[in-house]
Amino acid sequence: MSVGTIGSESLRHEMVDRLAADHAAKGLTLRPEVEAAMRTVPRELYTPGLPLEEAYQNTAVITKRRGEETISSVSAPFLIAEMLGQAVDALEGLEGRHALEIGSGGYNASILRELVGPAGSVTTVDIDPEVTDRAATCLAAAGYNDVTVVCADAEQPIEPGRRYDLIIVTAGAWDIPPAWRDQLTDDGVLVVPLRTFGMTRSWALRRSGDRLASASHRQCGFVSVQGAGAHEMRYVDIADGVHLRLDEGQQIDTAAVGGLLLQPRQEAWAELNLPPRTVLSDLDLWLATRLRREVSEFVVLSAQEEAVTSGVVAPAWRFGTPAAVHDGTFSYRSALRWTGRMFDIGAYAHGSAAAAAAGRMVEHMRAWVDADSPSPVLHVLPASTPDRDLPEGAVLDKRHNRVVLAFTPA
Ligand SMILES: C[S@@+](CC[C@H](N)C(=O)[O-])C[C@H]1O[C@@H](n2cnc3c(N)ncnc32)[C@H](O)[C@@H]1O
Repeated sequence: MSVGTIGSESLRHEMVDRLAADHAAKGLTLRPEVEAAMRTVPRELYTPGLPLEEAYQNTAVITKRRGEETISSVSAPFLIAEMLGQAVDALEGLEGRHALEIGSGGYNASILRELVGPAGSVTTVDIDPEVTDRAATCLAAAGYNDVTVVCADAEQPIEPGRRYDLIIVTAGAWDIPPAWRDQLTDDGVLVVPLRTFGMTRSWALRRSGDRLASASHRQCGFVSVQGAGAHEMRYVDIADGVHLRLDEGQQIDTAAVGGLLLQPRQEAWAELNLPPRTVLSDLDLWLATRLRREVSEFVVLSAQEEAVTSGVVAPAWRFGTPAAVHDGTFSYRSALRWTGRMFDIGAYAHGSAAAAAAGRMVEHMRAWVDADSPSPVLHVLPASTPDRDLPEGAVLDKRHNRVVLAFTPA
């Protein structure tokens, strides 16, 4: 189904051409059926009031804020394409499948509607009645009258007894409520942006009994889950424009860490020549699993652009870089060091044992490269699972689950 204007159609094709190029640059393939669906659904019908050109930017469109916090948006097209690609890959196609989307907006639900075809079904649920009203209106305007829109907290089953081949969550979760697993068919797939060690990845998790195991993951960011499953993530300032992302219960002496930042910086480098497209998001999870065994606090550093340009900090990625506080020392993964077209990875540290802390972080980076840059597999098991039944890996105990991040050789 496609409603829209001629101008909209050409902008839409340009956007999808850019998505295909972005995927290729990341070493991913834009699945043909996702591409076809995104060439069909007119995004401007889900962003009323926005100029047509802006509806086709590759960014999220914020639709609701609470104070400073964004609580609802129409997701960025690249993220929608990547997550739907994960679903298509894990289920070997979506034709005829029954899908539940958690977090509504209308746009993703319509693309899903195209993907599942007439024999499939799409239900979308949102906790916020303003969002479901808006999504229902937009879906009707675009002619997608057969998407079921439900207003509820998705922590609980949506239609008791009903099961879905695919549940796709479009809000950032800290844990996986039992209802998400239980509403899946026996080999159903849950695609969910899940936070582990303060870093969010979209995981495609396949069900096997009461367990889930990942088939793929992508780096991403999302507005947080609200309602019964909400889990506080705090940002604390350690200097002007420099923040630490802390998990619930994590306590940091921010003044002390801020003081450490003022001390001279030591650095260490892995002395590697890595090619430009080397993806380092798995390295960050590797570092988290290694460092948290050794340091008092593993944290995530983020910074405003001005704090980076003025040299207060030089993190690998200013939106979230692995960092550690230990023994009067603050260390983090540094910005890349380029030599021609190749780059090296390293660490910066401040404080009493700065050189050793930077060196330790770099040892872990080298170990990751020496192990052929492995990717993690995420296992999700019920909270009651005894240690002896856990797979090998770094264990995170959450409210409903024991989550294990396992690195196996590439
Ligand atoms: C990024 S928006 C969804 C984007 C949408 N899927 C699209 O098509 O672009 C995330 C939504 O998740 C919703 N949400 C957050 N917590 C929820 C919960 N517990 N149950 C249902 N919806 C929830 C928010 O109200 C918000 O509208």
